[in-house]
Amino acid sequence: MLRIVVCVSGGGTNLQAIIDSIDSGKLEDVEIVRVISNNPNAYALERAKNAGIEGVCISPKSFENREAFNEAFLEGLKEANPDLIVLAGFLVVIPLNVIETYRGKIINIHPSLIPSFCGTGFYGLKVHEEALKRGVKITGATVHFVDEGTDTGPIIMQKAVEVKEGDTPKILQQRVMEEAEWIILPESIGKIAKEKK
Ligand code: GRF
Repeated sequence: MLRIVVCVSGGGTNLQAIIDSIDSGKLEDVEIVRVISNNPNAYALERAKNAGIEGVCISPKSFENREAFNEAFLEGLKEANPDLIVLAGFLVVIPLNVIETYRGKIINIHPSLIPSFCGTGFYGLKVHEEALKRGVKITGATVHFVDEGTDTGPIIMQKAVEVKEGDTPKILQQRVMEEAEWIILPESIGKIAKEKK
């Protein structure tokens, strides 16, 4: 059984895709043992609760400095004893202590075909705004391992999505989530679970 902790900040649609893949039997030998959010109001925490999964909020705002948050975040991960940490729309920079403790065991979903439209400042709608501004005909999503950089770790899986006439950033974001993110994130976790066997 692959024990995973999912880190979230917002709506949690990627978390929901993992939950649904486990429930449907599509994703085998995987258990979400904890959901950690930096945002107390994240709907992702509601999704965890509805699925009977422990949700924990560890917010930088609750600590007097970043050092203290980094320690608490590492502790919150260690308590769950994960085999894999999944960043699913998580907007916190992963501290070095976590990278070092879980090197090679942290993955992230990014809403573009890395190395395009990624790096510092490229998250959420901004990614799709830039893709539309550049006029690309194909975009997509990437699952990659997390290292010290931003969106720089080894790529695990990618899926292309067509950009259509009249797309707005919101419409494109939704298509990339539906046609790519929600498919390749569970598939990547399944691939890692199989390799662990
Ligand atoms: C979305 O922009 C998604 O593309 C990116 O994180 C954001 C929130 O995703 N991965 P979620 O609905 O919280 O999973």
